[in-house]
Amino acid sequence: MVGLGPVGLTTAVAFAAQRNQVFAFDIESSRRKEILGGKPPFHEKGLEAALRKVLREKRLSVVHTMSEALRSSSIVFLCVGTPSKADGRMDEGPLGEAVKSLAAAWQDAKRRLVVVKSTVIPGTTDTVVRPILEGAKLPFRLAVNPEFLQEGRALEGAMAPDRIVLGIDGPETGRVLRALYRSTKCPVLVTDLRTAEAIKYATNAFLATKVAFANELANLCQAFGISYDDVHHGIGLDPRVNPRFLVPGVGFGGSCFPKDVRALVAAGRHRGAEPRLLEAVLAQNEVQYMRSIALLEEELGNLQGKRIALLGLAFKGDTDDVRETRAIPIARTLLSKGAVVVGYDPLAGPAFSRLVPEVKVVGSVTEALEGANGAVLQADWRAFARLTAKDFLAAMATPVVVDGRRILNPKKMRGVRFRRIG
Ligand code: UGA
Repeated sequence: MVGLGPVGLTTAVAFAAQRNQVFAFDIESSRRKEILGGKPPFHEKGLEAALRKVLREKRLSVVHTMSEALRSSSIVFLCVGTPSKADGRMDEGPLGEAVKSLAAAWQDAKRRLVVVKSTVIPGTTDTVVRPILEGAKLPFRLAVNPEFLQEGRALEGAMAPDRIVLGIDGPETGRVLRALYRSTKCPVLVTDLRTAEAIKYATNAFLATKVAFANELANLCQAFGISYDDVHHGIGLDPRVNPRFLVPGVGFGGSCFPKDVRALVAAGRHRGAEPRLLEAVLAQNEVQYMRSIALLEEELGNLQGKRIALLGLAFKGDTDDVRETRAIPIARTLLSKGAVVVGYDPLAGPAFSRLVPEVKVVGSVTEALEGANGAVLQADWRAFARLTAKDFLAAMATPVVVDGRRILNPKKMRGVRFRRIG
């Protein structure tokens, strides 16, 4: 397993738990050390216990060189990051570097299967990975096996996926991968390499579009004076629509939706396609957070000198990940309007402080609410859903609450000036 981020490490632990022998490598030595000590470098429910177990049982070895990772392995999973370049296109640099060091470490004549798990633009495995391995004259086979893990429930997803997509270069590769996934009971779709790469982007692009649609619909409901709840329920009853990923709010963040949709738009444009719908999805998402500010201003007027509690700093609940969290533009806009922003998150406080140091990060919801003139709920932590009017009324100077994720129960907000997106 090459690359021990959320995808690589979770997949490594899941394969080890399914009685495979896994050798895990990451170029960052501090990351290897933490993992070796039984501590995942990020929060993921259940992962620490599962990691400790497979380390103890010696099914997972964290190794310090690519050569050690390769020595006894017959399948190599590439799980390195595919960040965005300044123009939105996917940066294939880290993947290329990983394949080069794989080729350099591959000294024997053993035939290995190289599987790309990183999210890559269709064609990348053939144009970036293949030429490096061919140039080094290595006996390799190639596959693409995208992941569909959601942060916060990644281990469950890796242990019991709802589908497996295998992009393969021939029947032998298919046999090896089917054998690896033999204990997993779910549909397996076998395709060619670039189709598997495309399925990953298509899934994320569709889900991001669904969220942007929900946001737009919620904004329209607001304009018509209709509550989104029943509209959501009503459209969700149509099995062709289904209610999942239609919860409106302050927009989508994280390390995947924004980056992947941008990369697909940029790559599509580069090839002469005009992905107008996906461009609109990005544009919608870019400004959606402003709704939460507008609701605050409707209740409080000018925000100059007002104290605002920002609840939830991660890009969603159940994670410490702050990549592209909507808390960043919300905090920056509030600060630019002269507000004092006090933030709280069960896990993401320290990481958020490094991004927006002007926000005072405190250790509890109550501290954040203390003396506040308004509060914006930005991430859907389960603990936040239990907050009631009592919590807000006891601590706030003026009880104005904007639910940016529609998780609070409006029936429990008596006495609070309570607003929601939609
Ligand atoms: C997403 C996909 O859901 C995974 O299937 C995929 O494997 C992953 O990206 C990836 O490509 O690695 P993740 O980024 O963990 O997973 O987060 P999601 O749970 O999908 O949420 C993304 C964003 O959309 C969050 O900011 C969330 O708050 C927002 N969202 C989600 C909504 O605003 N409304 C919804 O109804 C659902």
